[in-house]
Amino acid sequence: MASRNKGYMKQRMLQRQLLALWKRGQSPLCEVRGSEIHGRGVYAACFIPEKTRVCEYVGEIIDKKQSARRASHQHAKSLKTGDAAVYVFTLSRNFDIDGNVPWNTARLINHSCSPNCEAWIEGRRIFIHALRDIDPGEELTYDYGFDVDCYAEHPCRCGKPECVGHIVSREQWPDLRARLKTKQGGKHRSNRPA
Ligand SMILES: C[S@@+](CC[C@H](N)C(=O)[O-])C[C@H]1O[C@@H](n2cnc3c(N)ncnc32)[C@H](O)[C@@H]1O
Ligand SMILES: [Zn+2]
Repeated sequence: MASRNKGYMKQRMLQRQLLALWKRGQSPLCEVRGSEIHGRGVYAACFIPEKTRVCEYVGEIIDKKQSARRASHQHAKSLKTGDAAVYVFTLSRNFDIDGNVPWNTARLINHSCSPNCEAWIEGRRIFIHALRDIDPGEELTYDYGFDVDCYAEHPCRCGKPECVGHIVSREQWPDLRARLKTKQGGKHRSNRPA
C-alpha cells in the first residue's frame, strides 16, 4: 500500500513539473498560426508595447557536443522531409537550449531582416522581448543571427523591403553583400560570350 502511494505521489509530482514547464512556454500575448514566411509562425494576440517581455524560449539545456549532434540531426531531417528546422539556441559559451519541445511556443517564431523582437539571454534562460510597439495580429520575428558562412543554406523569405535574401546576422550583412556581389560578378563574367 505504501509503495502504491509512493508511485502515485511520484506521478503527481511529475505531472506538476510538466505543467509548470508547459506554462513557462505559453504567453497570453501571442498565438500560433500559419505564416506567409514559413510553416507556422507566432503572432501578437494583442497590442504589445516596446520592451515588453513577450514569452520565454524554453527547452532542454545541453552542452555544445550534444548540441552539435542534435543540430546536424535536425538539419538532416529537415532536408529530407522539407520541414523546419533547427531549434537549438545558443545560451552561452558552453551551453545551448534545445527548444524542440511542443510547449515551447517561441520555437515557432520566424526570422526577419527587419525584426520586431529580440532574444535576451538572462542567466540560463532566454526571453523574447519586443523591439518596438507591435500591433495585434503582427507576426513576431527576430534575427536568428546565423553565420554568413552558411548563407546559401538559408534563403530568407521575410518579405521585408530591406530583406537581404538570406538568413544572416545583421552584423554580417556587409560581408554577405560582398560575397553576393562577387558571386554575381562571377556569373556575369562566365555568361559573357568568348
Ligand atoms: C525554428 S523554425 C521556425 C518555425 C517554423 N516556421 C515552423 O513552422 O516550424 C526555423 C525554420 O523556419 C524557417 N524560417 C524561419 N524564418 C524564415 C525566413 N525568414 N525565411 C525562410 N525560412 C524561414 C527555416 O526553415 C528555419 O530553419
Ligand atoms: Zn529577409
